[in-house]
Amino acid sequence: MASPSHLLLIVFLLPALAAFSNAGNIAVYWGQNGSEGSLADTCNTGLYSYVMISFLTTFGNGQTPVLNLAGHCEPLSGTCTDLTAHIRQCQSQGIKVLLSLGGDIGNYSLSSNDDATSVARYLWDNYLGGSSSSRPLGDAALDGIDFDIEHGSPDHYGELAQSLVDLGNQAGTKVYLSAAPQCPFPDQHLGPALQAVTFDYVWVQFYNNRDCDYSSMVSGVAGAWKMWASSLQSSAVFLGVPASAAKDDAGSGYIPPDDLTSQVLPAIEQASNYGGIMLWNRYFDRISGYSVAVRNSVI
Ligand SMILES: *[C@@H]1O[C@H](CO)[C@@H](O)[C@H](O)[C@H]1NC(C)=O
Ligand SMILES: *[C@@H]1O[C@H](CO)[C@@H](O)[C@H](O)[C@H]1NC(C)=O
Repeated sequence: MASPSHLLLIVFLLPALAAFSNAGNIAVYWGQNGSEGSLADTCNTGLYSYVMISFLTTFGNGQTPVLNLAGHCEPLSGTCTDLTAHIRQCQSQGIKVLLSLGGDIGNYSLSSNDDATSVARYLWDNYLGGSSSSRPLGDAALDGIDFDIEHGSPDHYGELAQSLVDLGNQAGTKVYLSAAPQCPFPDQHLGPALQAVTFDYVWVQFYNNRDCDYSSMVSGVAGAWKMWASSLQSSAVFLGVPASAAKDDAGSGYIPPDDLTSQVLPAIEQASNYGGIMLWNRYFDRISGYSVAVRNSVI
């Protein structure tokens, strides 16, 4: 029944819809608390567009990479391969699932460009579109890699990111890149990589940083946000916030849902590259109901 003019309308509307669906998304970290529910349950809530499996805590400098998923499963005994079905379940709902590198606790660094290239190859073969006899999460290919680099040298992360993109290009698949810098601009660990390579999603951590998180009021958040959004024009930039006021969620930066929707989001969402919010983490969001409370305003 589609007349040529209807088809034309669809052709024009599709890119607009795709651009629109890019906004108003919620990203969440999953993997650091065995009581947060399974990966599939997390995706089945319908609350999230991006889930970062956290963390690959050891990599680089010739070390054997270590995946740490707290109480969820034991990578060394192979029980994390059950996650393949969960990853596919999430992806079938249009949710992007990424592996997060780094975190607060871990032993990671890149010693050279060759080291970066070999870590990229490892990630491609073991978590992305490549193949290996010992894939920790089984056969499902993740959508990309998240960089949550919080200590050590900032060197060579740009080469790691570029190598991942190149490996994807060679295979004809897109490897999505995301990063979680701290809100003081520029970030001391991820700044150089973010300058060198275009990341698809950047979820800036507006917590544990009193100079720019909500401890310094809306103006503190808005000031830092402006620098991040304007310097990363080609990335979707997200406001990273604690999912609850609990002391063991984040030391500072909690924004009550009403304040987020009435004061903070209006101050940041005009940026053309505003992408939505990121929550640390699923465990706390599950108890607090933060994303349920704010989701209709995260547009
Ligand atoms: C989950 O996090 C809470 C709060 O930090 C902690 O009390 C609990 O022990 C954690 N549970 C597991 C299974 O890691
Ligand atoms: C980190 O790895 C290096 C190299 O393997 C090792 O010498 C060091 O002791 C490790 N540090 C920690 C805290 O595990």
